Amino acid sequence: MISDITTARDAALADIAQADSPDAVAAMTTRYAGKKGELAGLKKQLGSLESIDAKKEAGAAINAAMAAIDAALERRRTAVAADAIRIQVEAERIDLTEYLGKPKRGHAHLVTQAWERLEDVFVGLGFRVAEGPEVETDWHNFEALNMPIGHPARGEWDTLFVDHVPPEGEAGTTVLRTHTSPVQIRTMLDEEPPIRIIAPGRVFRRDTPDATHMPVFHQIEGLVIDRDISMADLAGTIDAFTKAFFGKGWNSRLRPSYFPFTEPSAEFDIQRPDGSWIELGGSGMVHPNVLRAGGVDPEEWSGFAFGFGIDRMAIMRHGVADIREMFSDDLRFVEQF
Ligand code: PHE
Repeated sequence: MISDITTARDAALADIAQADSPDAVAAMTTRYAGKKGELAGLKKQLGSLESIDAKKEAGAAINAAMAAIDAALERRRTAVAADAIRIQVEAERIDLTEYLGKPKRGHAHLVTQAWERLEDVFVGLGFRVAEGPEVETDWHNFEALNMPIGHPARGEWDTLFVDHVPPEGEAGTTVLRTHTSPVQIRTMLDEEPPIRIIAPGRVFRRDTPDATHMPVFHQIEGLVIDRDISMADLAGTIDAFTKAFFGKGWNSRLRPSYFPFTEPSAEFDIQRPDGSWIELGGSGMVHPNVLRAGGVDPEEWSGFAFGFGIDRMAIMRHGVADIREMFSDDLRFVEQF
Protein backbone atom coordinates (compact mmCIF):
# COMPACT_ATOMS: atom_id res chain seq x y z
CA MET A 1 0.00 0.00 0.00
CA ILE A 2 2.82 2.39 0.84
CA SER A 3 4.25 1.97 -2.62
CA ASP A 4 0.77 2.64 -4.17
CA ILE A 5 0.60 5.87 -2.17
CA THR A 6 4.08 6.92 -3.23
CA THR A 7 3.35 6.15 -6.88
CA ALA A 8 0.03 8.05 -6.79
CA ARG A 9 1.68 11.02 -5.05
CA ASP A 10 4.58 11.22 -7.52
CA ALA A 11 2.26 10.94 -10.54
CA ALA A 12 0.04 13.70 -9.12
CA LEU A 13 3.00 15.98 -8.37
CA ALA A 14 4.42 15.44 -11.86
CA ASP A 15 1.05 16.24 -13.42
CA ILE A 16 0.50 19.32 -11.27
CA ALA A 17 3.89 20.68 -12.29
CA GLN A 18 2.59 20.75 -15.89
CA ALA A 19 -0.52 22.82 -15.11
CA ASP A 20 -0.11 26.07 -17.06
CA SER A 21 -3.41 27.91 -16.59
CA PRO A 22 -5.88 28.65 -13.80
CA ASP A 23 -8.33 26.22 -15.44
CA ALA A 24 -5.76 23.41 -15.51
CA VAL A 25 -4.93 23.98 -11.81
CA ALA A 26 -8.66 23.86 -10.96
CA ALA A 27 -9.09 20.60 -12.89
CA MET A 28 -6.13 19.01 -11.03
CA THR A 29 -7.45 20.19 -7.70
CA THR A 30 -10.63 18.19 -8.33
CA ARG A 31 -8.67 15.27 -9.65
CA TYR A 32 -6.00 14.93 -6.94
CA ALA A 33 -7.26 16.77 -3.85
CA GLY A 34 -10.97 16.06 -4.04
CA LYS A 35 -13.06 13.29 -2.52
CA LYS A 36 -13.00 11.35 -5.76
CA GLY A 37 -9.22 11.52 -6.11
CA GLU A 38 -6.92 8.55 -6.21
CA LEU A 39 -5.55 9.12 -2.69
CA ALA A 40 -9.08 9.49 -1.32
CA GLY A 41 -9.74 6.08 -2.87
CA LEU A 42 -6.69 4.60 -1.15
CA LYS A 43 -7.87 6.13 2.13
CA LYS A 44 -11.10 4.17 1.84
CA GLN A 45 -9.07 0.99 1.54
CA LEU A 46 -7.32 1.62 4.90
CA GLY A 47 -10.02 -0.47 6.66
CA SER A 48 -8.98 -3.56 4.77
CA LEU A 49 -5.45 -3.47 6.26
CA GLU A 50 -4.81 -6.13 8.93
CA SER A 51 -2.61 -4.50 11.58
CA ILE A 52 -3.12 -1.28 13.50
CA ASP A 53 0.50 -0.35 12.77
CA ALA A 54 0.03 -0.87 9.04
CA LYS A 55 -3.13 1.29 9.17
CA LYS A 56 -1.28 4.01 11.09
CA GLU A 57 1.68 3.91 8.74
CA ALA A 58 -0.48 4.00 5.60
CA GLY A 59 -2.78 6.72 7.06
CA ALA A 60 0.19 8.91 7.90
CA ALA A 61 1.65 8.34 4.41
CA ILE A 62 -1.67 9.32 2.77
CA ASN A 63 -1.93 12.48 4.89
CA ALA A 64 1.66 13.43 4.06
CA ALA A 65 1.00 12.79 0.34
CA MET A 66 -2.21 14.89 0.46
CA ALA A 67 -0.34 17.72 2.20
CA ALA A 68 2.40 17.61 -0.46
CA ILE A 69 -0.21 17.67 -3.22
CA ASP A 70 -2.10 20.60 -1.58
CA ALA A 71 1.14 22.54 -1.25
CA ALA A 72 2.08 21.83 -4.88
CA LEU A 73 -1.38 22.89 -6.08
CA GLU A 74 -1.13 26.11 -4.06
CA ARG A 75 2.30 26.93 -5.52
CA ARG A 76 1.03 26.27 -9.03
CA ARG A 77 -2.08 28.41 -8.45
CA THR A 78 0.05 31.40 -7.39
CA ALA A 79 2.51 30.97 -10.25
CA VAL A 80 -0.22 30.61 -12.88
CA ALA A 81 -2.11 33.67 -11.57
CA ALA A 82 1.06 35.76 -11.74
CA ASP A 83 1.62 34.50 -15.29
CA ALA A 84 -1.94 35.42 -16.27
CA ILE A 85 -1.43 38.99 -15.04
CA ARG A 86 1.91 39.23 -16.80
CA ILE A 87 0.33 38.02 -20.07
CA GLN A 88 -2.55 40.49 -19.75
CA VAL A 89 -0.24 43.39 -18.96
CA GLU A 90 1.93 42.49 -21.92
CA ALA A 91 -1.11 42.32 -24.21
CA GLU A 92 -2.50 45.66 -23.04
CA ARG A 93 0.78 47.48 -22.98
CA ILE A 94 0.97 50.83 -24.74
CA ASP A 95 4.31 51.79 -26.17
CA LEU A 96 5.00 55.33 -25.08
CA THR A 97 8.61 55.38 -26.10
CA GLU A 98 9.66 57.96 -28.65
CA TYR A 99 9.60 56.84 -32.29
CA LEU A 100 13.20 57.02 -33.40
CA GLY A 101 12.69 56.22 -37.08
CA LYS A 102 12.04 58.93 -39.67
CA PRO A 103 8.39 59.93 -39.10
CA LYS A 104 6.51 61.33 -42.11
CA ARG A 105 5.46 64.89 -41.38
CA GLY A 106 2.57 66.66 -43.04
CA HIS A 107 2.71 70.24 -44.23
CA ALA A 108 0.44 73.18 -44.97
CA HIS A 109 -1.64 72.99 -48.15
CA LEU A 110 -0.43 74.96 -51.18
CA VAL A 111 -3.20 77.56 -50.70
CA THR A 112 -2.30 78.01 -47.03
CA GLN A 113 1.39 78.32 -47.91
CA ALA A 114 0.61 81.01 -50.50
CA TRP A 115 -1.76 82.82 -48.10
CA GLU A 116 0.84 82.86 -45.32
CA ARG A 117 3.65 84.00 -47.60
CA LEU A 118 1.47 86.78 -48.99
CA GLU A 119 0.80 87.97 -45.45
CA ASP A 120 4.52 87.86 -44.63
CA VAL A 121 5.52 89.83 -47.70
CA PHE A 122 2.81 92.50 -47.30
CA VAL A 123 3.45 92.83 -43.57
CA GLY A 124 7.10 93.37 -44.54
CA LEU A 125 5.93 96.22 -46.81
CA GLY A 126 4.10 97.88 -43.90
CA PHE A 127 0.57 96.43 -44.25
CA ARG A 128 -1.61 95.10 -41.44
CA VAL A 129 -3.90 92.07 -41.86
CA ALA A 130 -7.65 92.86 -41.67
CA GLU A 131 -10.70 90.59 -41.80
CA GLY A 132 -14.37 90.69 -42.65
CA PRO A 133 -17.29 88.26 -42.58
CA GLU A 134 -17.88 85.69 -45.33
CA VAL A 135 -21.65 86.19 -45.02
CA GLU A 136 -21.97 89.82 -46.00
CA THR A 137 -24.66 92.43 -46.56
CA ASP A 138 -25.58 93.47 -50.08
CA TRP A 139 -24.66 97.00 -48.96
CA HIS A 140 -21.03 96.16 -48.04
CA ASN A 141 -20.53 93.78 -50.97
CA PHE A 142 -22.07 96.03 -53.69
CA GLU A 143 -23.81 99.23 -52.79
CA ALA A 144 -21.03 100.86 -50.74
CA LEU A 145 -18.66 99.84 -53.53
CA ASN A 146 -20.50 102.15 -55.89
CA MET A 147 -22.81 99.46 -57.29
CA PRO A 148 -26.35 100.43 -56.32
CA ILE A 149 -29.18 97.93 -56.83
CA GLY A 150 -29.69 97.44 -60.56
CA HIS A 151 -26.12 98.45 -61.45
CA PRO A 152 -25.15 96.39 -64.52
CA ALA A 153 -21.67 95.63 -63.14
CA ARG A 154 -23.24 93.45 -60.41
CA GLY A 155 -23.65 90.83 -63.12
CA GLU A 156 -19.87 90.38 -63.13
CA TRP A 157 -20.13 88.74 -59.73
CA ASP A 158 -22.40 85.67 -59.88
CA THR A 159 -23.83 86.02 -56.45
CA LEU A 160 -25.03 83.44 -53.94
CA PHE A 161 -27.81 84.92 -51.81
CA VAL A 162 -28.41 83.74 -48.27
CA ASP A 163 -31.92 82.99 -47.12
CA HIS A 164 -31.68 85.27 -44.11
CA VAL A 165 -33.22 88.66 -43.36
CA PRO A 166 -31.06 90.67 -40.97
CA PRO A 167 -32.96 92.84 -38.45
CA GLU A 168 -32.07 96.04 -40.30
CA GLY A 169 -32.37 94.61 -43.83
CA GLU A 170 -34.76 93.31 -46.44
CA ALA A 171 -35.17 89.88 -48.03
CA GLY A 172 -32.40 89.22 -50.55
CA THR A 173 -29.96 91.58 -48.87
CA THR A 174 -27.60 88.97 -47.42
CA VAL A 175 -24.98 87.41 -49.69
CA LEU A 176 -21.91 85.23 -49.50
CA ARG A 177 -19.25 87.83 -50.28
CA THR A 178 -18.27 87.63 -53.94
CA HIS A 179 -14.91 89.35 -53.34
CA THR A 180 -12.79 90.66 -50.46
CA SER A 181 -13.54 94.30 -51.40
CA PRO A 182 -16.25 94.73 -48.70
CA VAL A 183 -13.38 94.59 -46.18
CA GLN A 184 -12.31 97.99 -47.64
CA ILE A 185 -15.62 99.46 -46.46
CA ARG A 186 -15.54 97.77 -43.04
CA THR A 187 -11.98 98.95 -42.40
CA MET A 188 -12.71 102.56 -43.39
CA LEU A 189 -15.79 102.58 -41.14
CA ASP A 190 -13.78 101.08 -38.26
CA GLU A 191 -10.67 103.20 -38.28
CA GLU A 192 -9.32 106.61 -39.19
CA PRO A 193 -6.85 107.08 -42.05
CA PRO A 194 -4.03 106.59 -42.71
CA ILE A 195 -4.92 102.96 -43.51
CA ARG A 196 -2.66 100.24 -44.89
CA ILE A 197 -4.33 96.84 -44.82
CA ILE A 198 -4.46 93.58 -46.68
CA ALA A 199 -7.45 91.25 -46.32
CA PRO A 200 -6.97 87.65 -47.42
CA GLY A 201 -10.03 85.41 -47.26
CA ARG A 202 -12.56 83.07 -48.75
CA VAL A 203 -14.99 84.31 -51.40
CA PHE A 204 -17.93 82.70 -53.19
CA ARG A 205 -19.44 82.79 -56.66
CA ARG A 206 -22.24 80.89 -58.32
CA ASP A 207 -19.90 79.14 -60.76
CA THR A 208 -19.78 75.54 -61.93
CA PRO A 209 -16.31 74.14 -61.18
CA ASP A 210 -14.08 73.83 -64.23
CA ALA A 211 -10.34 74.06 -64.94
CA THR A 212 -10.24 77.79 -64.11
CA HIS A 213 -13.24 78.32 -61.76
CA MET A 214 -14.30 77.16 -58.33
CA PRO A 215 -17.45 78.34 -56.52
CA VAL A 216 -15.34 78.84 -53.39
CA PHE A 217 -11.91 80.37 -53.73
CA HIS A 218 -9.53 82.83 -52.07
CA GLN A 219 -8.66 86.45 -52.71
CA ILE A 220 -6.42 89.00 -51.11
CA GLU A 221 -7.44 92.65 -50.97
CA GLY A 222 -5.14 95.60 -50.42
CA LEU A 223 -6.17 99.11 -49.34
CA VAL A 224 -4.04 102.18 -48.71
CA ILE A 225 -5.59 105.52 -47.69
CA ASP A 226 -3.47 108.53 -46.89
CA ARG A 227 -2.88 112.12 -48.02
CA ASP A 228 -1.68 112.60 -51.62
CA ILE A 229 -1.79 108.95 -52.60
CA SER A 230 -1.46 108.62 -56.37
CA MET A 231 -1.43 106.00 -59.10
CA ALA A 232 2.38 106.05 -58.83
CA ASP A 233 2.11 104.71 -55.27
CA LEU A 234 -0.10 101.89 -56.56
CA ALA A 235 2.34 101.00 -59.36
CA GLY A 236 5.32 101.17 -56.99
CA THR A 237 3.63 99.00 -54.35
CA ILE A 238 2.59 96.36 -56.92
CA ASP A 239 6.12 96.25 -58.27
CA ALA A 240 7.73 96.06 -54.82
CA PHE A 241 5.35 93.23 -53.96
CA THR A 242 6.06 91.38 -57.25
CA LYS A 243 9.81 91.42 -56.64
CA ALA A 244 9.53 90.56 -52.95
CA PHE A 245 7.09 87.69 -53.52
CA PHE A 246 8.18 86.17 -56.85
CA GLY A 247 11.80 87.28 -57.11
CA LYS A 248 14.09 90.01 -58.44
CA GLY A 249 13.78 88.89 -62.04
CA TRP A 250 10.01 89.55 -62.10
CA ASN A 251 8.33 92.76 -63.31
CA SER A 252 4.81 94.21 -63.20
CA ARG A 253 2.62 96.51 -65.26
CA LEU A 254 -0.77 98.21 -65.02
CA ARG A 255 -3.28 98.06 -67.89
CA PRO A 256 -6.34 100.38 -68.11
CA SER A 257 -9.52 98.65 -67.03
CA TYR A 258 -12.85 99.30 -65.32
CA PHE A 259 -14.22 98.60 -61.85
CA PRO A 260 -17.13 100.59 -60.38
CA PHE A 261 -15.24 101.06 -57.09
CA THR A 262 -11.97 102.45 -58.50
CA GLU A 263 -11.33 105.41 -60.78
CA PRO A 264 -9.11 105.18 -62.69
CA SER A 265 -8.96 101.38 -62.71
CA ALA A 266 -6.23 99.03 -63.89
CA GLU A 267 -5.61 95.34 -64.28
CA PHE A 268 -2.17 94.38 -63.13
CA ASP A 269 0.02 91.80 -64.77
CA ILE A 270 3.30 90.29 -63.68
CA GLN A 271 6.12 89.22 -65.97
CA ARG A 272 8.11 86.04 -65.51
CA PRO A 273 11.90 86.19 -65.95
CA ASP A 274 11.38 84.47 -69.37
CA GLY A 275 9.39 87.53 -70.51
CA SER A 276 5.89 85.97 -70.51
CA TRP A 277 3.04 87.82 -68.78
CA ILE A 278 0.47 86.60 -66.24
CA GLU A 279 -2.73 88.53 -65.49
CA LEU A 280 -2.93 88.74 -61.72
CA GLY A 281 -5.73 91.04 -60.57
CA GLY A 282 -7.59 94.32 -60.45
CA SER A 283 -6.66 97.65 -58.91
CA GLY A 284 -7.15 101.38 -59.04
CA MET A 285 -7.65 104.62 -57.12
CA VAL A 286 -10.47 104.27 -54.61
CA HIS A 287 -13.59 105.96 -56.08
CA PRO A 288 -14.75 109.08 -54.14
CA ASN A 289 -18.20 107.47 -53.63
CA VAL A 290 -16.50 104.49 -51.97
CA LEU A 291 -14.46 106.76 -49.69
CA ARG A 292 -17.68 108.58 -48.72
CA ALA A 293 -19.50 105.27 -48.03
CA GLY A 294 -16.60 104.42 -45.70
CA GLY A 295 -16.89 107.77 -43.91
CA VAL A 296 -13.65 109.11 -45.41
CA ASP A 297 -13.58 112.65 -46.86
CA PRO A 298 -12.36 112.50 -50.51
CA GLU A 299 -11.28 116.16 -50.30
CA GLU A 300 -8.75 115.30 -47.64
CA TRP A 301 -7.78 111.70 -48.36
CA SER A 302 -7.10 109.54 -51.38
CA GLY A 303 -6.16 105.93 -51.76
CA PHE A 304 -5.61 102.89 -53.92
CA ALA A 305 -6.92 99.36 -53.72
CA PHE A 306 -6.07 96.06 -55.38
CA GLY A 307 -7.33 92.50 -55.27
CA PHE A 308 -6.34 89.16 -56.75
CA GLY A 309 -7.00 85.43 -56.49
CA ILE A 310 -4.66 83.49 -54.20
CA ASP A 311 -5.43 80.08 -55.70
CA ARG A 312 -5.13 81.41 -59.25
CA MET A 313 -1.77 82.95 -58.46
CA ALA A 314 -0.55 79.69 -56.91
CA ILE A 315 -1.58 77.52 -59.87
CA MET A 316 0.10 79.88 -62.32
CA ARG A 317 3.23 80.03 -60.25
CA HIS A 318 3.48 76.23 -60.09
CA GLY A 319 2.09 75.47 -63.54
CA VAL A 320 -0.95 73.54 -62.27
CA ALA A 321 -3.25 72.90 -65.23
CA ASP A 322 -6.56 72.58 -63.36
CA ILE A 323 -7.63 74.65 -60.34
CA ARG A 324 -9.83 71.76 -59.13
CA GLU A 325 -6.63 69.86 -58.27
CA MET A 326 -6.13 72.39 -55.47
CA PHE A 327 -9.18 71.12 -53.64
CA SER A 328 -9.09 67.41 -54.53
CA ASP A 329 -7.34 66.20 -51.33
CA ASP A 330 -5.31 63.91 -53.60
CA LEU A 331 -2.07 63.25 -51.71
CA ARG A 332 -0.18 62.70 -54.95
CA PHE A 333 -0.95 66.34 -55.73
CA VAL A 334 -0.71 67.75 -52.22
CA GLU A 335 2.67 66.15 -51.49
CA GLN A 336 4.33 67.88 -54.45
CA PHE A 337 4.29 71.26 -52.71
N1 PHE B 1 -12.82 92.98 -56.22
C1 PHE B 1 -12.31 92.90 -57.56
C2 PHE B 1 -12.66 91.50 -58.11
O1 PHE B 1 -13.13 90.67 -57.40
C3 PHE B 1 -10.82 93.11 -57.62
C4 PHE B 1 -10.42 94.51 -57.27
C5 PHE B 1 -10.09 94.83 -55.97
C6 PHE B 1 -10.36 95.50 -58.24
C7 PHE B 1 -9.73 96.14 -55.64
C8 PHE B 1 -10.01 96.79 -57.92
C9 PHE B 1 -9.69 97.08 -56.62
O2 PHE B 1 -12.50 91.25 -59.29
